[in-house]
Parts: sequence; C-alpha cells; structure tokens
Amino acid sequence: MLNRRQIGLGLAGLGVAAAARALPAGAAAGTRKFPEGFLWGASTAAYQVEGNNINSDIWTAERAPGSPYADVAGDAANSFMLWPVDLDLVKNTGLSAYRFSLEWARIEPRQGEFSIAMLDHYKRIIEGCHTRGLKPVVTFNHFSNPLWFALAGGWHNPEAPDLFARFCAKAAAHLGDGIAYAATLNEPNHAGHLPAILPPSVSSWLLPADKAACEAVAKRFGVPLFLAGNNVWYPDPVVVQAHLLKGHAQGRQAIKAERSSLPVGVTLAMIDDQAVGSDTRMRDNMREKLYVPWLRAAQQDDFVGVQNYERALWDAKGRVAPPPGGDRNMGGAEVYPASLAGVVRYAHSIAKVPVIVTEHGVNSPDDGVRQRLIPAALTELHKAMADGVPVKGYFHWSLIDNFEWGFGYKPQYGLHSLDRQTFARTPKPSAAVLGAIARANAC
Ligand code: BGC
Repeated sequence: MLNRRQIGLGLAGLGVAAAARALPAGAAAGTRKFPEGFLWGASTAAYQVEGNNINSDIWTAERAPGSPYADVAGDAANSFMLWPVDLDLVKNTGLSAYRFSLEWARIEPRQGEFSIAMLDHYKRIIEGCHTRGLKPVVTFNHFSNPLWFALAGGWHNPEAPDLFARFCAKAAAHLGDGIAYAATLNEPNHAGHLPAILPPSVSSWLLPADKAACEAVAKRFGVPLFLAGNNVWYPDPVVVQAHLLKGHAQGRQAIKAERSSLPVGVTLAMIDDQAVGSDTRMRDNMREKLYVPWLRAAQQDDFVGVQNYERALWDAKGRVAPPPGGDRNMGGAEVYPASLAGVVRYAHSIAKVPVIVTEHGVNSPDDGVRQRLIPAALTELHKAMADGVPVKGYFHWSLIDNFEWGFGYKPQYGLHSLDRQTFARTPKPSAAVLGAIARANAC
C-alpha cells in the first residue's frame, strides 16, 4: 500500500528524446559478455504510471479516512495515453524488452463484464513493442485489483483464485499471442508478511492505520471486508497466502490453456538474507517464511521473476546493522550491489527454473548512486551466470519516476525523471549507463 494536467494526445516533445547522448563516466561496457538474446529491459506497473485508474481498489484506499497513503496516484505519468512515448524511451535507451502490467480493473470493471476496448488497448501496447523490436513481458496483476474484487474481501475471499483465473483466461485469449513472457502475480510472497520485514517503528503505526482505513471503506460500502491488493494489514496472512498460491497455479493453467507455448512465471520480492556468524536460524526462518513456498511453487513454472533492492544481515538475535560507509538510498539504507546475484543464486537453487530479474534498482534522488549500482550489480550477476545459473534477462525498476504506492511521488527509482505538470520524461545519465551495457550485451 503505502497527482497533473492537460491530457492532449500530442506526443511530440514529451520526452521522446533519446537517452543522454554523452555517456557519463563508467558508462562504457566491459568485456563480460551476456548470452545472445539476453533480455535488457525496464519495468513499470499499470497503476503506478497509467493514471486515473478509478475502478481500482487502491484509488478508493488512497481516499479512505485516515489512509496511510502519502499521496493519491491521480494522473500518475499519464502512461495510459502516453504509452507510445514510454515505448520510445525503452527503445531509445538501447533496451530490448519492456515489462508492464495489465490493469485488471480496466479489463473487468464490473464482475464478469469484460471490456474488449481495454483488451485492445493492451494489445496495441504489445504490438507497439513488436514494432520497435521490444519483447513484451506482461504482468497480469501488479498489486492493484478491481474495486469489486477488494469489496468481496480481496485475496481473503475463497473465490479469489477462480476470479483471477477467469481474468487470466480472458486476457490470455486476447493478448497471449504477442506476449514474450507472462507473469501472473507481482510479489505475492510479501502479502501478509510485511510486518516481519518493516522496521518496528514503521509497522507500529502503518499496520493499525491500514486496518482502520480498510474498515472505513468496508463500512462505507456496507461489506464485511475490504482488502486492497497491496495492503500491509491482512486479517489472516495464512489464508491469503494459500489463496495467492492457488491463484498463481490456476492463473498459469488458464494462460497455458490459451497458449501452451507462452512461458509463465511469478515475480517474487527477494531480499538477500545473509547470516552473520555460524547461527543461521534467523536467516533460515526468514527464507522459509518469505520465499520457500513460492520458490517450490515456481518449480512448476517456466521461469521465476526475481526482484531485489537490498540485503539483510541476520545474527542469532535478529537483524544486524550493515557496515558503515558506501552508497545509501533515499531512506538511508545500504546500497549493496551484490544482493541481486545473491538472491538470483538462492532462487535458482530451489526453483530450479531459469531466472529473469524482473526488477532491480534504487530509490535515490542522486542518479550517481544508480550509475554505480547498475554495472556493479551486473558484474556480480554475470559471475552467477558463469557459475551456471541460467538468467534470461535483467529489467531495471523503473523506466520512469512514478507513483510509489504508500510513499506517493517522493521516491525516485526512474531511469527517466517525470514532470508531473507536463508529463515530460527526461533521461537520467543512468539510462545511458544501462543502455551502453545493453547495446554491447556486456558489462
Ligand atoms: C514493486 C514495485 C515498487 C518497487 C519499488 C517492488 O516491490 O513491485 O511496484 O514500485 O518495488 O518500491
């Protein structure tokens, strides 16, 4: 969980400029070659960039009394209109793939009513990818759900897996032919588990605030339970996890039933949990709770999507502070480039299917941090691949600065900045860093 203006369709001048032409220091690609066909991409998610997703659960959650959201998504980056600009950004950066998501609430705004026009909208994006030589990697559900789904209890509802699978079937029937890789759900492994990850100083106020906001929405609509797709509070995490695991399996089957050759997986939020000292129990407990059930489920998939932003150090008593020094993100947390390779190795050791890095990046207003992180993380990723871990691609989060859920528009993860008045996108030097690596297919 945790805003605008004229919408004209004149795309010219709206940030279609190519990524910064002069390469910043460190942008030159090295000699470590990636396999031919390796996917180089950037990621977005519908609710975070499209704007005006008024039928989505989070649109209502943001406006609930006492809502812990720092901001409302509003127009976001207006990518609903400006998706051709976004595809041009991906192309001009030098990348070969684009990961984006479908907004379920646009496609099924009322339960059982499917919009052909909205399915056609996403079909045009997929076709736009192909026209530009980009591989479309499509997430069927990236946190936000239709309001009607959330008012029926969201993923707490025992019917949720069937409802999600029916949406997957409709979307795959319309769009499946053009998709390169499909992901069912985004980071379902975190649902209900965030209180274990967030610092106690945050969860102590966020959890009750989120619960109270959900209760206020439920009361307003006269339903027993409102549960949005990116809640922090869940009435019963065990139940929600069971339904999500079922939803993923049914979603995959539904997609495969439409096109059996389409590779399907799930994208998982993974912190590189490391044990400090010989007692590994705390670290092992975290892994067991947060990743193992999903990595085992991914054994049935065609790939596993790994999303990493940090590492965590664990001793026998709990989380340990990282060593001082080095780059820090906007929140002051350690930036540790090797964490990506760490989780990729671990994910593959259990899932035993190819890995796609579907998200990796850093929240920083200082683009230098991003410029240093990208090559350093990719060097470590390359080592993991040299050791035999099959990795099919790397997608940076995010293509543009966007709506970062509960934190609103303050965080900055983008390879491009966003002017929220004009919707102009401007490449940051890090886009050139990633682009140089992608063009050379080497780091
Ligand atoms: C999510 C994105 C989010 C990013 C940065 C990931 O957990 O999939 O939606 O914006 O992290 O916070």
